[in-house]
Amino acid sequence: MQPKAITIRELYARHSQGEDLSALPPVLLEGWIRTNRDSGSIGFISLNDGTCFKNLQVVYNDKLEGHDVVSHLLTGAAISVYGKIVLTPEMKQPFEIHAEKVEVLGDCSADYPLQKKRHTFEYLRDEAYLRPRTNTFAAVFRVRSVLALGIHEFFQGKGFVYVHTPEITGNDAEGAGQVFTLMTPDAEGKLSDTEFFGRRASMTVSGQLHVEAFAMAFRDVYTFGPTFRAEKSNTTRHASEFWMIEPEIAFADLEDDMDLMEECIKFCVRYVMEKCPDEMAFFNERIAPGLFDKLNAVLEKPFRRMEYTEGIQILQDAVKAGHKFENPKIEWGMDLQSEHERYLTEEVVKGPVFLINYPKEIKAFYMRENDDGKTVAACDCLVPGEGEIIGGSQREERYEILEKKMEAIGNKEGLEWYLNLRKWGGCIHSGFGIGFDRLLMYLTGISNIRDTEPYPRTSSQLKY
Ligand code: 4AD
Ligand code: MG
Repeated sequence: MQPKAITIRELYARHSQGEDLSALPPVLLEGWIRTNRDSGSIGFISLNDGTCFKNLQVVYNDKLEGHDVVSHLLTGAAISVYGKIVLTPEMKQPFEIHAEKVEVLGDCSADYPLQKKRHTFEYLRDEAYLRPRTNTFAAVFRVRSVLALGIHEFFQGKGFVYVHTPEITGNDAEGAGQVFTLMTPDAEGKLSDTEFFGRRASMTVSGQLHVEAFAMAFRDVYTFGPTFRAEKSNTTRHASEFWMIEPEIAFADLEDDMDLMEECIKFCVRYVMEKCPDEMAFFNERIAPGLFDKLNAVLEKPFRRMEYTEGIQILQDAVKAGHKFENPKIEWGMDLQSEHERYLTEEVVKGPVFLINYPKEIKAFYMRENDDGKTVAACDCLVPGEGEIIGGSQREERYEILEKKMEAIGNKEGLEWYLNLRKWGGCIHSGFGIGFDRLLMYLTGISNIRDTEPYPRTSSQLKY
């Protein structure tokens, strides 16, 4: 009878716990060939079985049954290997497997698009369905998976309730008009945007409004799921579909909100460093040299908190001192461009910074108006390399003020329930949204959001 296969992950785990793998009876492995080189009497296959970042070296010789077939196997083929584990303490890898039997489980033809040589990220984006088989993307998508659990551990560890807010909604939460509208065929087969629900429906841009209602019941809640924005920004940081983590906390103001943001980011940094050491070391060495220094620095210091007004002043001073922005016209009231955000976080603070108290005109309707009548208690967390990764605010809890704002932008209809929250036990509360994909970019040093999502969606791009 065939023994049950063991995974490379388990081998490494047992080895690192001090077990002598050479004492094991022969083991069976299943995986895919990363490389195969044969020099006649001896050959080497680098095998990856998907269970961990590391490969295992398979050594075979010309006595192996089917040697001719094995020695000609190409990159990408699926095989099983039966053999003894041999310790190789003097080599780069601590152990290898000496094949007694190799079986081809799935051959790989020569037109396989991922050959040995290094491919550009652009090329791999075009082969999105194959790229998880490369080192880089295997690392990205494992960290993505681990980070998702880390988010849950962070919030659930604090007693937050996870709320599945709907993906189909009747409101544009942010009021920015960037929604994808849903269409279904009517009786004549003509596409209609009202036929199904009797009113317009769209894909959610944010779960915030729905999750706020739950914060008024559970105190601390979060939603974490896909969000959709029909934003034609063709940048390295915008996607049409991305995941967002949106906590909402009752009896909490903007300061409490920022404390939670900071704690969450630091938790995530520690979490991926601890849970994905091989992947993170790979990013640090091959993708973003200096990544560890950057992340360690994030852990060391409290995040700086800076008033929007001060930020504008600093940017204006930078222009006066000769700094060249693409958008050099900087004035109070404007929405900051990414280059401005990056200047503040990269050149001035040299680390994460909370920019707070933005002009009310450029921020969403639900943000709490400050006593100056000009600004709202909003906060963006800006980080080097990217700019904004978190947007948050204290929410407007005062019924009349919120109602006026909603009437002014014309979104009160359909959101009466949201306004009611202010009348029935409404309290001071705050929340924020972390772009999960942007967070992953930050933690891995991957510089394009398209390389953090399994199948990225951006305008004009829907190959898979
Ligand atoms: O700043 P945003 O628009 O805030 C909200 O949606 C609030 N409802 C959050 C809240 O307070 N509950 O988006 C939050 C974050 C941004 O900081 C950014 O990281 C990410 O979501 N984000 C995007 N990520 C990728 N592609 C896009 N098109 C994104 N738009 C926003
Ligand atoms: Mg924002």
